[in-house]
Amino acid sequence: MASSLKKFFQLSNYKYNLLLLLNKHNSRINKLTESVSPDEIKSIAGISFEYFDIETGKYLDWVKNYYPDLPPELHEPKFKKLIEFYTSFHLLDPQDDDVFLDAAGGIHSYLNRLDCTKKYMQDMRISDELKQHLGSTIEYIDSNAANIPLPDSSVDKISVHHSIEHFQQNSDTQFVLEVQRMLSAGGKCCIGPIFLNQVYIEMTDINDHSMKFDEKSKRVIDTTSIFPGGETSGNYARIYDIEALVRRVIDHVDRQNFRATIYEVLMDGKSVPDFSLKCHRDTAKVESPYRVLLIERLK
Ligand SMILES: C[S@@+](CC[C@H](N)C(=O)[O-])C[C@H]1O[C@@H](n2cnc3c(N)ncnc32)[C@H](O)[C@@H]1O
Repeated sequence: MASSLKKFFQLSNYKYNLLLLLNKHNSRINKLTESVSPDEIKSIAGISFEYFDIETGKYLDWVKNYYPDLPPELHEPKFKKLIEFYTSFHLLDPQDDDVFLDAAGGIHSYLNRLDCTKKYMQDMRISDELKQHLGSTIEYIDSNAANIPLPDSSVDKISVHHSIEHFQQNSDTQFVLEVQRMLSAGGKCCIGPIFLNQVYIEMTDINDHSMKFDEKSKRVIDTTSIFPGGETSGNYARIYDIEALVRRVIDHVDRQNFRATIYEVLMDGKSVPDFSLKCHRDTAKVESPYRVLLIERLK
């Protein structure tokens, strides 16, 4: 008790904890975010929009099956990371003979729970602890997502969990090109969430004005937000508006050979994540509605 009180009042944690107590997370970013509507997404040329409505019963069975030992950092069965995993798992449908890549997979991953013939984890920062925890059935690739050293057409499924928003400079665009280069015929990549807002934002959670790479974005510094992911994600997050999504991502999808679909994820018809759950109390407003981008290679 004494030690947790001491930790609470440590200078470095003081402001953060005070804001947590006052429920003042995302104090700046929440004021600047208003999601785009399904109709606005449907107006994007050359992509489809669909709903992915999760049935709670089936979802909870999946969680029990894949996470019988729910670790403390995954909080509870309806924690957003598990919804994210369930969504990519179902849209990608991993098979035993698949080559599976978890791109920018460096913190939480379900790779170690898959039976795929070959499993790769790629990230700029993969700790030795994570490698030890996930084990030697996975091959680890320490690289930028903009340049992944895997051969052309060599990967069947690619998951990208809560990461593309952290890709700095032009790594988001370059990653979308890498995805198309790496995917085999019939291969799929699920990028989720994909954050869409009325205003295009590049944000940081530290007082650093250098983290703005696109002249068209609005720079936002919000030290009360964990959305930019702290040091482990480079203290940076990009939130697209429709124009930025099209210019940086969609326009780089070769629509002759690939199909792009944005799915809005629901659970029994309701938006996710559930903000009334304690584990989502510091979740930024922009995380709902929850959407993912699926890129499929046609031939
Ligand atoms: C919020 S974490 C998500 C990690 C993991 N996918 C998960 O769901 O827990 C974002 C990850 O993106 C990685 N990352 C950020 N920019 C990157 C880049 N340009 N190339 C590769 N990885 C990057 C970070 O190192 C970090 O591991």
